[in-house]
Amino acid sequence: MGVPVKGKGGLRKMRVIGIESSCDETAVAVFDTVRGLLSHRLHSQIALHQAYGGVVPELASRDHIRRLLPLVREALAAAQSSRDSVDGVAYTAGPGLIGALLVGAGFARSLAYAWGKPAIGIHHLEGHLLAPLLEPEAPVFPFLALLVSGGHTQLVDVAGVGEYRILGQTLDDAAGEAFDKTAKMLGLPYPGGAALAQLAESGRPGQFNFPRPMLDRPGLDFSFSGLKTAALVALRGRVLDEEIRADVARGFQEAVVDTLAEKVRRALVGGGYRRLVVAGGVGANMRLRERLGDIAQDAEAAVYFPRAEFCTDNGAMIALAGALRLAAGERASLAVDARASWELGAPGSAQQGSTD
Ligand code: KG4
Ligand code: ZN
Repeated sequence: MGVPVKGKGGLRKMRVIGIESSCDETAVAVFDTVRGLLSHRLHSQIALHQAYGGVVPELASRDHIRRLLPLVREALAAAQSSRDSVDGVAYTAGPGLIGALLVGAGFARSLAYAWGKPAIGIHHLEGHLLAPLLEPEAPVFPFLALLVSGGHTQLVDVAGVGEYRILGQTLDDAAGEAFDKTAKMLGLPYPGGAALAQLAESGRPGQFNFPRPMLDRPGLDFSFSGLKTAALVALRGRVLDEEIRADVARGFQEAVVDTLAEKVRRALVGGGYRRLVVAGGVGANMRLRERLGDIAQDAEAAVYFPRAEFCTDNGAMIALAGALRLAAGERASLAVDARASWELGAPGSAQQGSTD
């Protein structure tokens, strides 16, 4: 599989190992600009954090340390690659949990130094935005992207690699965060997004009508914290039997999906886009996919969803983004680059540093 990236004379052949450790997944993948994705491996820390109802940063960092080296070995073996056939190392430089990021960044930088290869820090959200390029039916630029994850909810104009313009974003909670918090109220284990979606399947429509935040206002921003509060109020004083929990889950999911879908419709129509890309963990939600499929069809736009395992955090998207940037000639300084906060579109390590 090739990657549809415009450039003089096409894309340079480049094989890159990508490392993701921004939160509670340790993931490693090998991507080749000519042959496509060669391997990907992931260790989820969900079981480690579940007892605490959320991610414990210190535990996350320590587990990344334990998992990285075996996963790199496995990913290289599965890709039938070695240090000699790898041309560079990409790692998630931010945003995320700083300790977790530092583990991945320090590891990746050291590996690159020992191997005498270039390394590059990748913006986690750029990874999500480019994940649909891992699929055989990949979108070409430009496209509109809906990025819906545990930490972010954004509508982004994507003109090319590194050419991102945020059109709208959440003013408070991210969509995934709202899913997770509401799931917790419903007694579902962390992270509750997928479990809430499953519970919603048996819920009756129309039993709970939650607000559709910000739809009465122009623009493309979102707000989900009020919705979570509305769910809390709806649950208060009730006996939470299976039926009520399912009805609330259904009502909540419908409200989130409606809100996201309407803003996407406005952005698609307003910007005259021909392609819509959906990325980030909440992009795995089937109801959202169904609604966005309908909206794209009405707007005569094609819609692209990465497969579910590439919607949630993974190493493949980081290896891909790194390969595209390194193949385009970008190089970063030898500094270990890790930032807890990093605005999409703000300069990255490659723009700041000298070559190595
Ligand atoms: O992109 P991601 O793996 O991590 C971040 O970068 O945040 O997204 C994780 C988020 C979590 O909030 C999780 O509950 C949510 O995506 N999620 C879902 C579904 N699968 C994962 N939310 C709704 N429906 C799903 N099927
Ligand atoms: Zn993510």
